[in-house]
Amino acid sequence: MPEPDQLPRTLNGYYQLARERMTPEHQAYFLAGAGDEKTLSANEAVFHNAILTPRVLRPLGGGSTEVKLLGQTLAAPCLIAPFAYHRLLHPAGEVATAQGAEAQTVKMVLSAQSSMDMNDVRAAGPGSDWFQLHWMGSRETTLALAKMAMAAGFAVLVLTVDAPVQGVRDREIEAGFQLPQDVSAVNLQQFAGPRFAPLEGTESMVFDRIAHALPTWEDVAWLVEAVQVPLLLKGILHPQDAAMAVAAGAAGVIVSNHGGRVLDRAPAPLHQLPKVVEEVGPDYPVLMDGGIRRGVDILVALALGAKAVLIGRPVVSGLAVAGELGVSHVLRLLRDELEIAMLLSGCRNIDAITRDMVHLKL
Ligand code: FNR
Repeated sequence: MPEPDQLPRTLNGYYQLARERMTPEHQAYFLAGAGDEKTLSANEAVFHNAILTPRVLRPLGGGSTEVKLLGQTLAAPCLIAPFAYHRLLHPAGEVATAQGAEAQTVKMVLSAQSSMDMNDVRAAGPGSDWFQLHWMGSRETTLALAKMAMAAGFAVLVLTVDAPVQGVRDREIEAGFQLPQDVSAVNLQQFAGPRFAPLEGTESMVFDRIAHALPTWEDVAWLVEAVQVPLLLKGILHPQDAAMAVAAGAAGVIVSNHGGRVLDRAPAPLHQLPKVVEEVGPDYPVLMDGGIRRGVDILVALALGAKAVLIGRPVVSGLAVAGELGVSHVLRLLRDELEIAMLLSGCRNIDAITRDMVHLKL
């Protein structure tokens, strides 16, 4: 672990040092995308192709990055994206991430595949009260997990709908990545996953077994009713699916392709974001993630209609480089860059960031 005065001083410094320090297996697990990694590259490329036209000479004093979202106040319009198995990167795992987030008053969305007990993570970062669910094979088991999270004090739920099966990640397969015995999804241990009967004849594992255990829009509407706390859907890319989410009673959507880890050739979330916002209207909570590497990227996403963004790989890097301190520092650097970008483009607060400022060059 580097001494505090030896920490990287820039975000790119973190990304580079994290790559140098991670084992090839961990690099493959945390940084790779599915297939040819076209979607993974597109996620970042679309940000690189955004053109941001600044405004000048506006009064900016007393500005702030604060936003209100789902009845909560966020100091800045970003959260830590749910990602699995933080203990692979640091012994204090999700507890370290929650503490680093707390130090910056940022919320972490805790993954269902957390490698630490959700109650310990809640205690380490009381401000982080969002929990991500996967569909657990049935309504009953999914609700049991949701209830466990609510009993632990989580107040917002995120149901991930874009990863019913793992994407084919060549780099991970080639690196032979396997979870070590002492790292697992501890919060899911008590739940029996769906059990599949052996395949017969020409049956397909995907269509004749797994697909039968997957949720539909009716299940989402049922879960929304059953949980009684705001439930967002994560992994929406098509505007019509966003409209279906509204109809099912979801409290919001997260435009995301799972960081390019599932369906290669899926579009970049930033590219879909304006179409989704157009479909559901400017007041519905639309968040996005995927490809954000700099503070200015947050500004671009907000200009295109996101109410807030989620940050994945940059936090992976902070945790890998320096645990809690690294997470906190990465979040601080992102926030500093966002504030500077806001000042330089003439935006004193988040409401001043408008659609006309950004042109997406495709
Ligand atoms: C993820 N992501 C993810 N999403 C989710 O809903 N549940 C999960 O358990 C995980 N696990 C996970 C592991 C790893 C290693 C990564 C990199 C990502 C997806 C994550 O929430 C988010 O959508 C992306 O990481 C956002 O893209 P960037 O910021 O990493 O480009």
